[in-house]
Amino acid sequence: MTTQQDNPDNEVICYCSGTKRGQIRELFLQGKDVEAISRWTGALTGCGGCEWDIQEFLEELAIEQSKQST
Ligand code: FES
Repeated sequence: MTTQQDNPDNEVICYCSGTKRGQIRELFLQGKDVEAISRWTGALTGCGGCEWDIQEFLEELAIEQSKQST
Protein backbone atom coordinates (compact mmCIF):
# COMPACT_ATOMS: atom_id res chain seq x y z
CA MET A 1 0.00 0.00 0.00
CA THR A 2 1.32 3.41 -0.92
CA THR A 3 0.81 6.10 1.65
CA GLN A 4 1.11 9.81 1.12
CA GLN A 5 4.46 9.74 2.93
CA ASP A 6 5.83 7.22 0.41
CA ASN A 7 5.18 9.63 -2.43
CA PRO A 8 8.55 11.13 -3.40
CA ASP A 9 6.75 14.31 -4.47
CA ASN A 10 5.99 14.94 -0.78
CA GLU A 11 9.68 14.95 0.07
CA VAL A 12 10.99 18.38 1.06
CA ILE A 13 13.88 19.36 -1.19
CA CYS A 14 14.48 22.86 0.21
CA TYR A 15 14.31 23.01 3.98
CA CYS A 16 14.58 26.80 4.20
CA SER A 17 11.39 27.33 2.20
CA GLY A 18 9.71 23.95 2.81
CA THR A 19 9.52 23.37 -0.96
CA LYS A 20 8.61 19.82 -1.94
CA ARG A 21 9.73 17.88 -4.98
CA GLY A 22 6.14 17.86 -6.28
CA GLN A 23 6.05 21.67 -6.38
CA ILE A 24 9.28 21.73 -8.37
CA ARG A 25 7.95 19.05 -10.72
CA GLU A 26 4.71 20.96 -11.30
CA LEU A 27 6.48 24.23 -12.11
CA PHE A 28 9.00 22.45 -14.35
CA LEU A 29 6.13 20.89 -16.30
CA GLN A 30 4.69 24.39 -16.72
CA GLY A 31 7.96 25.34 -18.40
CA LYS A 32 9.42 27.36 -15.53
CA ASP A 33 13.20 27.61 -15.27
CA VAL A 34 15.19 27.44 -12.05
CA GLU A 35 14.96 31.20 -11.46
CA ALA A 36 11.19 31.22 -11.85
CA ILE A 37 10.91 28.14 -9.63
CA SER A 38 12.96 29.93 -7.00
CA ARG A 39 10.75 33.03 -7.20
CA TRP A 40 7.52 31.00 -6.96
CA THR A 41 8.54 28.69 -4.15
CA GLY A 42 11.26 30.57 -2.26
CA ALA A 43 13.62 27.63 -2.84
CA LEU A 44 17.29 28.65 -3.12
CA THR A 45 16.59 31.94 -1.33
CA GLY A 46 17.94 30.81 2.05
CA CYS A 47 21.16 28.94 2.79
CA GLY A 48 21.56 27.64 -0.77
CA GLY A 49 22.25 24.14 0.51
CA CYS A 50 19.57 22.65 -1.73
CA GLU A 51 21.08 24.01 -4.94
CA TRP A 52 22.75 20.79 -6.03
CA ASP A 53 19.67 18.66 -5.17
CA ILE A 54 17.39 20.97 -7.13
CA GLN A 55 19.72 21.10 -10.13
CA GLU A 56 19.99 17.32 -10.10
CA PHE A 57 16.21 16.92 -9.79
CA LEU A 58 15.61 19.33 -12.70
CA GLU A 59 18.08 17.33 -14.80
CA GLU A 60 16.22 14.11 -13.92
CA LEU A 61 12.93 15.75 -14.90
CA ALA A 62 14.40 16.97 -18.20
CA ILE A 63 15.68 13.46 -18.99
CA GLU A 64 12.29 11.97 -18.04
CA GLN A 65 10.55 14.48 -20.28
CA SER A 66 12.85 13.86 -23.24
CA LYS A 67 12.28 10.10 -22.95
CA GLN A 68 8.53 10.63 -23.02
CA SER A 69 8.69 12.82 -26.12
CA THR A 70 10.65 10.24 -28.20
S1 FES B 1 17.67 24.45 1.86
FE1 FES B 1 17.05 25.58 0.13
S2 FES B 1 17.81 27.58 0.48
FE2 FES B 1 18.35 26.49 2.29
